[in-house]
Amino acid sequence: MNVGILGATGAVGQKFIRLLVKHPWFTITALGASQRSAGKPYAEAVNWIEDVPISDEIAHLIVKECTPEALGSVDFVFSGLDSNVASDIEACFAKASIPVISNAKNYRQDPTVPLLIPEVNPDHISLISSQDFSQDGSGWIVTNPNCIAVPLSLALKPLHDRFGLKNLSLTTLQALSGAGYPGVSSLDILANVIPFISAEEPKIAPETQKILGLFNSTLIERPSFTVDATCTRVHTLNGHMAAVSCRFSIKPSSVEEVIQTLKEYPNPIANLNLPTSPAQLYYLYEQQNYPQPRLHADCDKGMSLHIGRIRDGDFFHTNFVCMAHNTIRGAAGGAILNAELLHKKGYLK
Ligand SMILES: NC(=O)c1ccc[n+]([C@@H]2O[C@H](COP(=O)([O-])OP(=O)(O)OC[C@H]3O[C@@H](n4cnc5c(N)ncnc54)[C@H](OP(=O)(O)O)[C@@H]3O)[C@@H](O)[C@H]2O)c1
Repeated sequence: MNVGILGATGAVGQKFIRLLVKHPWFTITALGASQRSAGKPYAEAVNWIEDVPISDEIAHLIVKECTPEALGSVDFVFSGLDSNVASDIEACFAKASIPVISNAKNYRQDPTVPLLIPEVNPDHISLISSQDFSQDGSGWIVTNPNCIAVPLSLALKPLHDRFGLKNLSLTTLQALSGAGYPGVSSLDILANVIPFISAEEPKIAPETQKILGLFNSTLIERPSFTVDATCTRVHTLNGHMAAVSCRFSIKPSSVEEVIQTLKEYPNPIANLNLPTSPAQLYYLYEQQNYPQPRLHADCDKGMSLHIGRIRDGDFFHTNFVCMAHNTIRGAAGGAILNAELLHKKGYLK
């Protein structure tokens, strides 16, 4: 399929390009960015921050403005657009019958737009049929969640299904790459922790509740668990970590039952052989000093979830630490996996 990338010059856009260059199903044929970049060869427009060279065919592509007319014939687009402009541009593509797989936050809370993690809520893609961006339904939008809601939801799904989540408390340790480029000033973050990330905490409850919601064939019924979140920026490069505490409706009988529940989770896309799926979804660690972003974030294409420190609590029933690669599993890689699922299910054709 011929694919366009909106926001191709940004940090997420670059990750899309890197991950898609050798993709077996999707070929990048168009790149879009702002007027500042349009008209230039990609290599000239971009400040490339990936640690592999730009492939020749991409380097010479001329960047276009983000309109369906300028991008030309594409089967669908990935969006890594700045959220200040994503609403209008993404709607414009959907209206022009070009499906949008978006990484931006703008449509995540639209009740007709799936907030998709293929291993967690693949049935939510049926929401697409209730969208009215285009007259005949051929243009639509699917989003992937915020980069910390992804590891959190992946970890909580088996536990919520089995024990019923009531109260959630978490503190995140989020990597520098999550702030985009140039991101946080070096003088602020060097040898430091910043105990606040603008606009991050308010996303966690609504996104996690929507992802873990039950699709009742019309809309998503959201579970009503409470969430207290503290988001911090730490001096790591890739890999968002969260220290999580949960109370459930049903108290797990033991730590072993929690571990068993995670191990036995029936991954709903396990048999689809999607190219971006990790060989192993959950890595569970017994070592007390694991997981670690530097050691584990890139493991299994950067698409796995790493869980450790699983233990009982006093007030909370279960505590654990989880971690996933924020710009791969939590951004571009997650969006590509969404597109692969949508292709396999016949929505992208
Ligand atoms: N960074 C992450 O880890 C991460 C994780 C999850 C989600 N996100 C979300 O993903 C999106 C992209 O993040 P980012 O860090 O890649 O941002 P970024 O580096 O600032 O890139 C933004 C992109 O949007 C383009 N753009 C800006 N204004 C435009 C306009 N008026 N018309 C068309 N294109 C325009 C930019 O093009 P020019 O270069 O031409 O200005 C650039 O390609 C954001 O919505 C962000 O919230 C980011």
